[in-house]
Amino acid sequence: MLIILLGPPGAGKGTQAKRIVSENNLVYISTGEILRKAVKEETSLGFRAKQYMDQGQLVPDELVVEIVKDRLVEPDDKKGALLDGFPRTVTQAKFLDKVLPDVNAKIDRVILIEVEENELIERLTGRRVCSECGANYHVQFQPPKVRNVCDRCGGDLYQRDDDSLETVKERLEVYKQQTEPLISFYQEKELLSTVDGNQDIDGVYKQINSIIEDL
Ligand code: AP5
Ligand code: MG
Ligand code: ZN
Repeated sequence: MLIILLGPPGAGKGTQAKRIVSENNLVYISTGEILRKAVKEETSLGFRAKQYMDQGQLVPDELVVEIVKDRLVEPDDKKGALLDGFPRTVTQAKFLDKVLPDVNAKIDRVILIEVEENELIERLTGRRVCSECGANYHVQFQPPKVRNVCDRCGGDLYQRDDDSLETVKERLEVYKQQTEPLISFYQEKELLSTVDGNQDIDGVYKQINSIIEDL
């Protein structure tokens, strides 16, 4: 099974993805998380990616497609993969179409999570992330039991460098210009399902789950 989560920054892709992969036994591929790990480990990829990420710009296609290509071959004990935040440009989507036959895979569904812009800004500027396990929190909507400490693993929570108001606005603009064209790209292929992401986390999950159950 191959599922793609599409949606603007802050739509809840990561929050939903973590639950979807554990309940469906899928490999989780988040280009954003892979890039942030590379930045943290100061690899050459991380070094090149950081300058774009900090400004809310997309990392160039040729760097991103290389990362994804390596991960599409999934371990035998998994039932497929979930892509979060990839593809993000039409070039990346075409690349995916080209490499999937090589790994005997095809896209089963592209799930678009739609959320109003004001809500996105509130979610992103209040987000906190666990530095150890990557779990997402929100100071107001999804607070940890103890301030700045992860409920799951006890790790410290931090605010992402690109979650400042200024960078968030830039990321939303970049989404409109470079990623939104994917909506019609996948609509034409009859692969798109849209979910109302303005609901609470459980409500969004229920809608996504019913789409997956029908596959
Ligand atoms: P990436 O990490 O993918 O960031 P993004 O797409 O901007 O999306 P986010 O992770 O910010 O939001 P999300 O939808 O996952 O929301 P979340 O679940 O955390 O990419 C980062 C950067 O890496 C890019 O800017 C780019 O530079 C680079 N990059 C990555 N992929 C790339 C690619 N393919 N090509 C080129 N460059 C690439 O939720 C947000 C907050 O809201 C959380 O605090 C959460 O608790 C809360 N929340 C979630 N759901 C709800 C709800 N239903 N109600 C209330 N609160 C909620
Ligand atoms: Mg995310
Ligand atoms: Zn944690």
